[in-house]
Amino acid sequence: MAGLKIFSGNANRPLAEDVCRCIGVPLGKALVGRFKNGETRVRIEEHVRGADVFVIQPTSSPSDHHVMELLIMSDALRRASADRITAVIPYYGYAKQEKKSAGREPITAKLVANLITTAGVDRVVALDLHAPAIQGFFDIPVDNLTAIPFLADLLVKEGIEDVVAVSPDVGGVARANDFRYRINAELAVIAKRRPKPDEAEALEMVGQVDGKCAVIVDDMISTGGTLEVAANLLHERGARAVYAYAVHPVFAGNAFELIERSFLDRVVVTNTVTVPPETRDNKIQVVNIGWLIAEAIQRIHEGRSISAMFETRRFQQELLI
Ligand code: R5P
Repeated sequence: MAGLKIFSGNANRPLAEDVCRCIGVPLGKALVGRFKNGETRVRIEEHVRGADVFVIQPTSSPSDHHVMELLIMSDALRRASADRITAVIPYYGYAKQEKKSAGREPITAKLVANLITTAGVDRVVALDLHAPAIQGFFDIPVDNLTAIPFLADLLVKEGIEDVVAVSPDVGGVARANDFRYRINAELAVIAKRRPKPDEAEALEMVGQVDGKCAVIVDDMISTGGTLEVAANLLHERGARAVYAYAVHPVFAGNAFELIERSFLDRVVVTNTVTVPPETRDNKIQVVNIGWLIAEAIQRIHEGRSISAMFETRRFQQELLI
């Protein structure tokens, strides 16, 4: 595949290596480190003039540092005459700050989009953006991929009966609805409130889970608070088992402890964010989505459709009827 080059920052090199393995290209050589004063140091160590370059870098914790690596790598590639630079951001950090929920607050998701564009990025590939509207924060093409069909397929393969897909908050209904059509299940929705940032309270639920296997579907697990309160409510309402299928394993604060002591029987996440092996336990399963990102990169490089990757979406067919 002439002209295609893939580089990685330090946020998730194993994922970038897997993407390269799937495509059959070596990971581009680049020094991405720090100067003694703590500033980020980058040097691209191979020619990129005229190349179609992809930089894989989730802007996960420490987000500020990973954003800076992405910006500085993009700047270096642009100055080295790369033909096109695509930022592949499997997890887009700062996404929860996508609107002002009170006066005198920033819209950081937009600020980061501005920074990425200014650094010279020509297009962005993201995965399950917390709010799809973030695509509009960029004035360059953004492909917002989704791992939801893949997660749904994994559940279907297990052949579990009487499943109810649960959205843990009103904002996640479209995602959970997509998931439930794919697995042919009922839908339940929890009304959640955030008394303070990073705190969650489940107020009420619409839907029946008594005797069912309740599967919480979410874009990310951050503090784990949303899952904890949702699992408590589902247990209280008689669910026979409680699972969670979420895309981004942010696992902030004491998320692992919350999950461990919760009513959750199983948590399935992808590897958009690195989960240290020692923190995985019997409850947490990490599934690899490197192949999905590899497929998107190949299609973009060859000028082929990305939406065709997801065209068999059952819920779209339902909507058309
Ligand atoms: C809601 O806004 C999101 O979809 C997730 O439910 C939320 O980000 C999870 O955050 P936490 O784990 O901190 O409750």
